[in-house]
Amino acid sequence: MLTLALIGCGRISFKHIEAAYNNKDRIRLLACCDPKTDRAEAKRAEYLKAVPDASVKVYADYKAMLAELKPDICAIATESGYHPVISIACSEAGAHVICEKPMALSTTDADAMIAAAKKAGRTLTVCFQNRFNAPVRKTRDALEAGRFGRMLHGAVQIRWNRNEAYYAEAPWRGTWALDGGTLMNQCTHGIDLLQWMMGEDALRVQAATRRFLRPIEAEDFGAAIVEFASGAVGIIEGTADVYPTNIDETLSLFGSTGSVVIGGLAVNKVETWRFADAEKIGDTEAVVLNPSEKDPPTVYGFGHSALYADVLDAIRDGREPLVSGEKGRKALEIILAIYKSQKTGLPVDLPTTFSTKEMKGEFD
Ligand SMILES: NC(=O)c1ccc[n+]([C@@H]2O[C@H](COP(=O)([O-])OP(=O)(O)OC[C@H]3O[C@@H](n4cnc5c(N)ncnc54)[C@H](O)[C@@H]3O)[C@@H](O)[C@H]2O)c1
Repeated sequence: MLTLALIGCGRISFKHIEAAYNNKDRIRLLACCDPKTDRAEAKRAEYLKAVPDASVKVYADYKAMLAELKPDICAIATESGYHPVISIACSEAGAHVICEKPMALSTTDADAMIAAAKKAGRTLTVCFQNRFNAPVRKTRDALEAGRFGRMLHGAVQIRWNRNEAYYAEAPWRGTWALDGGTLMNQCTHGIDLLQWMMGEDALRVQAATRRFLRPIEAEDFGAAIVEFASGAVGIIEGTADVYPTNIDETLSLFGSTGSVVIGGLAVNKVETWRFADAEKIGDTEAVVLNPSEKDPPTVYGFGHSALYADVLDAIRDGREPLVSGEKGRKALEIILAIYKSQKTGLPVDLPTTFSTKEMKGEFD
């Protein structure tokens, strides 16, 4: 049985509590940490409802927790800008790290996190939980089986609404120092999926971002073209401004022998499924499309529990988790390249280095 500590007990933390009790045969929550201790108390109570015999301590200071409890795994769900410092401290204390997305707000910080985990001989995982959505896994299996043929182009559209109340609820949101804009916060999942399916080898990014409506420092809309090493082209469209509520997050992939569109609220519903070998293997669109498929209750989906299970398997088997630090860094680098392209007005070649802090004043 491995032990877990949760660091950061705000909006998304219920997904970590849920993932912990969904994996309760293999992992035990030991501590909830948040300087706002009422939040940590609330998470403790949430977990104890599901696992009543557990013993969970509350800490305002995660460093005290690390020193006293030495947990096997730390889950970090604080404001994004704090992830690097906390992640490095957890690695240095000998813990495996499950870090919320985005892992960091600069390429330099991401590299330092990866290096610290490596040095400690511990895993580092980034919460791109949508990789575990059933339609996404099915698409990835088709890709790995070569069913798309040559991948030509793909697109991700994130048409969501994050209104003024959302930003007012937590003033760090939309700041360059702690969050970035909608591409870095909401769209990072879709950008991760796009690059994962298109070969993980983005070479050049050209972008235009805007702050249209929201009272924040960073962008609430972004559009980008990403060129991959294979010659394939990816298109990104992401917004927090859609009127009046969330519409969809849709990933579309077009290969020479396959077309897939996964839509729904957060890439959880197959909308198009066409492959040259479909008849032969009994995997036609009519078989795959499931009219009873429902959107999950929130855009966060169901993936955290599966991501935790993958981390636990990885630790047991001595392998890298599916979304390792290196893998999680790829979407970050693309988003930072998008920011750099907006700032310079030029295409940006990868690899590149950049930080959200270099965007300060861009839309003022
Ligand atoms: N995977 C997803 O789908 C998903 C969804 C939403 C948010 N997130 C990410 O999760 C993170 C948190 O977002 P949120 O909306 O829950 O934020 P939030 O503001 O609701 O919560 C953050 C919490 O972290 C606490 N905190 C700050 N410093 C701390 C420290 N040193 N030790 C312990 N706790 C500390 C704050 O007091 C706050 O309670 C962000 O990185 C965000 O991008 C991921």
